[in-house]
Amino acid sequence: MGVPYRWLIRPLLRFQDSEKAHHRSLRLLRLATALPFGGGTLKLLYHPRHEIPVELFGHTYKNPFGLAAGMDKNGIALRGWERIGLGFIEIGGVTQHEQEGNPKPRMFRANQSLALVNRMGFNNEGSDKIRQRLEVHFKRYGRPSVPLWVNVGKSKITPLDIAHEDYAATVHALWQFTDVFVINVSSPNTPNLRDLQNDDGLVRILDTCQKVNHQLADEHGIQPKPFLVKVAPDLTNEQLVHIALTAKNNHADGIVLSNTTLARPKTNHKQDANVFSETGGLSGQPLKERSTEMIRQVRQHVGKEWPIVGVGGISSPHDAFEKIKAGATLLQAYSGFVFEGPALSKSVVHGLKHSLDKNHYSSLQSAVGADEQPK
Ligand SMILES: Cc1cc2nc3c(=O)[nH]c(=O)nc-3n(C[C@H](O)[C@H](O)[C@H](O)COP(=O)(O)O)c2cc1C
Repeated sequence: MGVPYRWLIRPLLRFQDSEKAHHRSLRLLRLATALPFGGGTLKLLYHPRHEIPVELFGHTYKNPFGLAAGMDKNGIALRGWERIGLGFIEIGGVTQHEQEGNPKPRMFRANQSLALVNRMGFNNEGSDKIRQRLEVHFKRYGRPSVPLWVNVGKSKITPLDIAHEDYAATVHALWQFTDVFVINVSSPNTPNLRDLQNDDGLVRILDTCQKVNHQLADEHGIQPKPFLVKVAPDLTNEQLVHIALTAKNNHADGIVLSNTTLARPKTNHKQDANVFSETGGLSGQPLKERSTEMIRQVRQHVGKEWPIVGVGGISSPHDAFEKIKAGATLLQAYSGFVFEGPALSKSVVHGLKHSLDKNHYSSLQSAVGADEQPK
């Protein structure tokens, strides 16, 4: 189904507004799982035949490839993501308060460069409504069969100096339903959000969220939830390593590398150049090398045990394996799904399995950071 998507659907997408096409696809995915044979058909077409088990964050991930934040901000198509065989699903960015985001248009496709520029600005239904949706979903269908991650952002109306309270309120609201929280201090589309990557901002957010986390864990008599920090690519390597070490020393359980970039690649293609002149964060192919380099840098400084989640420009098994060898244990994609369609999960998982077998790795974990160590 990868080829039909590339030859039939992708050309059609060129004539549609990017955000409208996105909402249509999400609704279609949701609808497919509501139809009598829809879920089974999705599974038949897209679900990988192989598993690549990864033990992490208190769960067994059946494969390391998940959905990146931003694709399903309000968590409306959980069963669809499960059916196409993703190893985990990240919903959000969720903010404490519901917000509309920036004026439209705010999402643009650069088709030749296989890239997107977006300035969505955390449009989402807010922590209360999303909590209600998850409550209904869990009652009706039970917990999703794969770990559910929640990406937490800051509400635009909340001043920066009390951002920690805003993050903690969302954590409190969604705690019961979440397997892993990702603290997003790196979206370029909320004014000054990236300032929270500094020591004071980050430590305060982590402290406040961990307090809520431990209190709820005690009340429920279960383990606290893992917290990851998601970082921007527009940092020097020194800044990046400093932030990673600050996160690690302040009880973050791992890091997500990376969010979208403010940088722009060179292009001779006029339409893509127009897209690149738009304000916002760039994702997709042009982000790939930088995000892999970030993984390599952080892995060298944080040691083997602290997990890195690699995201940025993954659209093939080769891209995925590069990030594993650089030091990522789990992977995610957003733009790759826009350009390659839902078959991406199957092709990445099958291709990764093939690369692991071919290179005589007994598990995915034994290939993590392989660039650094002799086998
Ligand atoms: C339209 C859009 C919205 C996004 N929204 C979020 C978000 O709310 N929170 C977040 O942490 N990342 C968000 N991202 C970033 C992605 O999760 C991912 O880090 C980035 O796109 C790089 O991955 P990719 O090259 O596979 O797209 C968004 C990306 C896009 C394209």
